[in-house]
Amino acid sequence: MSKATAVANPNIAFVKYWGKSDVTLNLPANPSLSMNLAALTTITTVEFRPGLRVDAVTIDDRPAIGESFDRVVAHLDRARSLAGIATRACVVSRSDFPAGTGLASSSSAFAALSLAATRAAGLDLDEGALSRLARLGSGSACRSVPAGFSLWEGDRHETSFARQVAGRGHWDLVDAVAIVAYEHKKIGSHHGHGLASTSPLQEARLAAVPGWLKAVLRGIRERDLATIGLCVEADALAMHGVMMTSVPSLLYWTPATISVLRAVRAWQEEGLGVYFTLDAGPNVHCLCESADARLIEKRLRNLAGVQDVLVSGAGDGVRPMAYHLF
Ligand code: PMV
Repeated sequence: MSKATAVANPNIAFVKYWGKSDVTLNLPANPSLSMNLAALTTITTVEFRPGLRVDAVTIDDRPAIGESFDRVVAHLDRARSLAGIATRACVVSRSDFPAGTGLASSSSAFAALSLAATRAAGLDLDEGALSRLARLGSGSACRSVPAGFSLWEGDRHETSFARQVAGRGHWDLVDAVAIVAYEHKKIGSHHGHGLASTSPLQEARLAAVPGWLKAVLRGIRERDLATIGLCVEADALAMHGVMMTSVPSLLYWTPATISVLRAVRAWQEEGLGVYFTLDAGPNVHCLCESADARLIEKRLRNLAGVQDVLVSGAGDGVRPMAYHLF
């Protein structure tokens, strides 16, 4: 086969990956755990075309240039090297949600690219190998490969990939994402990781991660939102603390971000089961059970500064598609 298409969902981390122990191999400073988001997708078609002189990459209907083009080409090179081919490729990728605003668009993008490129190159990688490959493109992408809830751990290239800890049907947990900004962030997570070690708080965060991870794993197993909620919030705040105190400082929050955080805390005091987390951006992910999702969505939409709310349950892993984008 020389042409293949794949679809992937981005994931939201309950225990975050921030900082790397190896920049080239994208080995993380700490293990992380996430849920795929069914309602958001990236679809990518890759075709290897003999005779093409350079790779051609289109992302969200625009030709990719600069760093995003280079990262896709580097990833195609990894697939080419695995397959032992040199043929250039045509890549078209489309996401149905805004990129670069803390919605983990690189996670679905590199998961979909990994599957489409390896299938188009005639390879059939198992889930672990695919997750490992996706990790080299963007760390968090390895967690979008298995379905449902996944844990990424391992400290060497061979052992560092994501494994499923619970399937998507295990728990009807919902992520209601309050969109407070659409602008592309100035420093994305890809570069932000390199700053983590400049923060005096990173060491303390890394020391706390094993406890959060253990509690969140148990919370998922027992479908116990209150247990995971407190850890998820503490972990997200710790990561943003590291970001804010790194050199240079990364400050992703806007006034609307803080309004949403405060509203969530007030709803908790009323007895509602809702907890927040944030990726490298100003938008706030609110976790709740599906029975409360409509109410949370409605309340979020009524908050000043909230421009939209995306609501999603747990999603599938990366998968092939019969339909091609070109
Ligand atoms: O995969 P990257 O390099 O874009 O890093 C993702 C980092 C966070 O989204 C902030 C946290 C995480 O674990 O997803």
